[in-house]
Amino acid sequence: MSQHSKPLYYSDYLQLDTLLNTQVPESGQHGPAAHDEMLFIITHQTYELWFKQILHELLSVLELFSKTPLDEKRLHIISVRLDRIIRIQAVINQQIGIIETMTPLDFLDFRNYLIPASGFQSRQFREIELRLGLSHHFSNASFGRFNPEDSAYLERIAKQPSLFEWVDAWLARTPFLECEGFSFWACYRRAVDQMLASDADIIRNNPLLSDQEKQQQFTEHESTRQSFDCLFEQRLYEQYRQQGRFQLSHKATLAALFIQLYRDEPLLQLPFRVLSRLMDIDEHLTHWRSSHALMAQRMLGSKIGTGGSSGHDYLKATVSAKRIFADLFNLSTFLIPRSLLPALPNSLLRDLGFQQDRH
Ligand code: HEM
Repeated sequence: MSQHSKPLYYSDYLQLDTLLNTQVPESGQHGPAAHDEMLFIITHQTYELWFKQILHELLSVLELFSKTPLDEKRLHIISVRLDRIIRIQAVINQQIGIIETMTPLDFLDFRNYLIPASGFQSRQFREIELRLGLSHHFSNASFGRFNPEDSAYLERIAKQPSLFEWVDAWLARTPFLECEGFSFWACYRRAVDQMLASDADIIRNNPLLSDQEKQQQFTEHESTRQSFDCLFEQRLYEQYRQQGRFQLSHKATLAALFIQLYRDEPLLQLPFRVLSRLMDIDEHLTHWRSSHALMAQRMLGSKIGTGGSSGHDYLKATVSAKRIFADLFNLSTFLIPRSLLPALPNSLLRDLGFQQDRH
């Protein structure tokens, strides 16, 4: 029992009287009640509750990132909270399967009563997108669908630093890339040249390829070399970034790559885990967009959405357009086999968590 004078009662604590009286189907108010509208409402409400929890975690992660130094303890809490978001995403992604038990004809029983309301107007969903960092590379055009209060709120959020920005700043601060007498990137470039030269030999000596096929493979090989060049030449990188081929800053990309390459070193294991969590969040969101787009097609075919978009076509386009941490996925382009990785100097290895010199 608590210190309350009256023992706390389950439904009072959870305010169930309020919560369970907030399902108000439209259909019954205009004609015959549509059986499936209850499922439609409860599914959306459940999503919104989980969105609330995701924002709760996300805001705390942003707060932790905003404090320097970002020590191991904070990074660990960040990783744990990001993991919680991922688990929630896994659950809400599954809910699409529940709403798909409603047939398109059942949906039509009440769909027209909903116009012009739409998931477009989910303020929490947009806030999650903005807090994660979508505002950087996607227009906020759809704010226009919100009422003035929600719209003003989102405009404010859009101006605040996002997770993407904090991650970029944190990565860009990562030390270890240069130390006395050792330039990691010069060594890495030599290793890349070695790898590319060996790839070229494989093409040249492949007896199964015709001259034309070899030519084709050499063209692709050259394009891989050019992508590597942008790693080593900041000016080229910035050009690519302006074309939208990268979102992260040059320094952040180098640091993220370093973390990926040397993730076995003790001090880099936690940063590697955080980067992996960010990719998981992006991947789950992308899965959701894709499943939701398919579900909308199943329900609507090529009809427009209640919010006035082109429906499935609009949603399908968001799957690839609204990526937040795609750069972290694309880093794999720059990975080279472990056997070619430059050996790190002992002093650096010590800093990365080894106690003893290695010879
Ligand atoms: C029968 C079920 C559903 C259908 C047919 C459907 C259809 C659509 C359509 C067509 C859009 C594009 C905007 C528009 O023109 O209205 C949209 C947007 C959206 N819907 Fe759904 N939806 C359904 C269920 C859900 C559920 C359960 C959620 C959970 C919250 C949801 C969340 C969203 C969100 C967040 C957007 C904005 C996406 C963006 O702009 O990137 N929808 N929906």
